[in-house]
Formats: sequence, structure tokens, C-alpha cells
Amino acid sequence: MSAIDLFSPLAVGRMTLPNRVVMAPLTRNRSTPEGVPRALNVEYYRQRAGAGLILTEATCVSPTAVGYPLTPGIWNEAQVAGWRAVTDAVHGAGGRIHCQLWHVGRVSHPDLQPGGIAPVAPSAIAPAGEAFTMAGPKPFVTPRALALEELPGIVADYRAAAANALAAGFDGVEVHAANGYLLDQFLRDGSNRRDDAYGGAIDRRARLLMEVMAAVVDACGADRVGVRLSPVQPFNDMRDSDPRATFSRVVDLLGDFPLAYLHVTEVGRDAPGAAGPFFDPLELRARWRGVYMTNGGYDQARANAVLAAGRADLVAFGVPFLANPDLPERYRRGAPLNAPDPATFYGGDAHGYTDYPALAD
Ligand code: PHB
Repeated sequence: MSAIDLFSPLAVGRMTLPNRVVMAPLTRNRSTPEGVPRALNVEYYRQRAGAGLILTEATCVSPTAVGYPLTPGIWNEAQVAGWRAVTDAVHGAGGRIHCQLWHVGRVSHPDLQPGGIAPVAPSAIAPAGEAFTMAGPKPFVTPRALALEELPGIVADYRAAAANALAAGFDGVEVHAANGYLLDQFLRDGSNRRDDAYGGAIDRRARLLMEVMAAVVDACGADRVGVRLSPVQPFNDMRDSDPRATFSRVVDLLGDFPLAYLHVTEVGRDAPGAAGPFFDPLELRARWRGVYMTNGGYDQARANAVLAAGRADLVAFGVPFLANPDLPERYRRGAPLNAPDPATFYGGDAHGYTDYPALAD
């Protein structure tokens, strides 16, 4: 009997993935200024269709969800049409693709907001650091705390975005509840100081995420929906007084939905000032009955080891997939990898985006 490895197929929702090499969501800042995917983006994703599953770059659910220049959206017809070309290309090349649904919350800037308004957040607490605007980095501003009456509108934006994702031909969606963006800002007590039904004890801090999950599941079917968490990620000035307790409860609550998968990034656990007291995010796997995806600096050997040990079912690769359009095939053949070029990660043109060579080239 051979051990489970990156090339063991896996049923995920309605799909069977031919391998467990998932392409992680990667912000690349190469959409149009209107947030519409273009031909260059179609080619990038088509090149990577050998992934067991592609997770798109984070994709904004509404105009106020935007926090970085040239990131895509999925709230209007032009964006849906742009994504349709991407999903057609990926499916034509034999692949599968989920759209990652994003609202940045406080990690924005009036320069990026419609009408120059303040970004929204659970509480009026500015993160330390700078936003990336079209005019360069600018200090984060104090966000406006969302009123209770506004929260159904946020849930409705996610529902509409999920329906748009299906209309664009995606196989499903991933709710981005990680990395210090809006839903994560509600989950962690460093950014959520509300005293209403959406703040305080963890079940209340998790309420917005659970309402979003219910809406997205209603729009897509649970077997087309995944969710991403980042329990120890300090990025975007995030902290929590007890991350193990917080995220254990979040995973238990998510267990009410028979989701396609749970995606937990381990990124941050070795960072200085990692979010709160240390714990190993892989502990969460024991609380989850379904498919468990991990992420965070894995190479082929470590990925095969985590799969063989039964500590995860899927591994998402970010930087290696960015630099190697045919990453699964390289792993299969034991071929050398292209070196990533960090100078071209965010923004620019085809250089450092669609010009990394495949093996046959
Ligand atoms: C980024 O643009 O830096 C970024 C976007 C989404 C993430 C993390 C980082 O989840």
C-alpha cells in the first residue's frame, strides 16, 4: 500500500482533483483599474491549469471592499465577463478554479474608496502601517466602525459575489477570512472591540463570518465553498489574546456547514511577534471532519510528509506556483524549479507573470 502523496487524487465537493498541488491565492495587481481581469490574466491562469485546484487572487466583493490598486472584483457584469474568459481557459486546459472572495475592511485608504470615504471595520481602530495607493504608500487611517444595520449589506455583497462567481463559470468560491482583512478583523479581539451581537465572546465575533458562510452556501451549495483562516498571522497588525481558543471555536462553528474544504495558512507562526501565544495551526485538523488544506512555505518533501502523516489532505503553494506554471509536473518529474523574482510579484506586465518558462520550453 503506497502512502498518500501529492499525486494521490482526492474528491473535493463535486470535483475529483487529479493531484493535491493547489495554487494558493496570490495578489498580483495586474487587473484593469476597474478591477476587470484581462487577456494577460487569462494567460497566467491558463498556464497554471495543471494545479489540482487553482484559488484565484483575492477578489473584491464590492467597491468598498477594495484595498490595493489593480486588484480584481466580482461585483459587476464587466468583471464577470473578464473572469468568464479565465474560467473558460482553465477548464479548456483541463483545470479547476475557485474564486477567493475578499473584503479588506480597514486595510484600505480613502484614495481607494468610492467618493474618498473612510474604510469600514468592526471597530474604529487603525492598523499600524501603510496602505498601497496609486500615489504610493500612505499611512492607514482610522476606519469607520460598521453600524449594526449595515452588516446585512455586507452579507448581501458576499452572496451576490458568490452568485456572480458561478455565473462567471467558477467551480466554487473560497471565503477569505484570513490575513487581517474584514472577516478576520471581526474574529480577532485585537481589532474587534464591539459591544453588540458581533463583538465580545468568540461566538459573537464569529457571527459575521457565519452569516457570510450561510449566504454563500445558499448561493453556491456547500460543496462548492471553502474558507481560509490564518490563526497565527500577525500581518496587517493583527493580534488575538488566545488564538488557539479563538480558532478552535471558529473551526467548530464552521463544522455546521458541509464545506468542500477548510484552508488554514500556517504563515506567521515563526514570525517575530506572531499573533498572540504560539500554537501549531495543524492542531485544528483534528477538529475538522472534511477536507483540510494547509499552506505556508511548503516544498515537495514537506508537503508529502504532511500528507502521508494524515495531518492535511491538500497543500497550497504560493511562491513556487507563481514562478513555475507547471509546478505539479516539475514535482512529478523531480525537475528543478525556476527562481521567483520578488521585484515583479506586485504589479507590472507580463514580465515575472506569464514569462516564467515551463519545462517543455
Ligand atoms: C497583499 O496584497 O499583500 C495580500 C493580499 C491578500 C492576502 C495577503 C496579502 O491574503
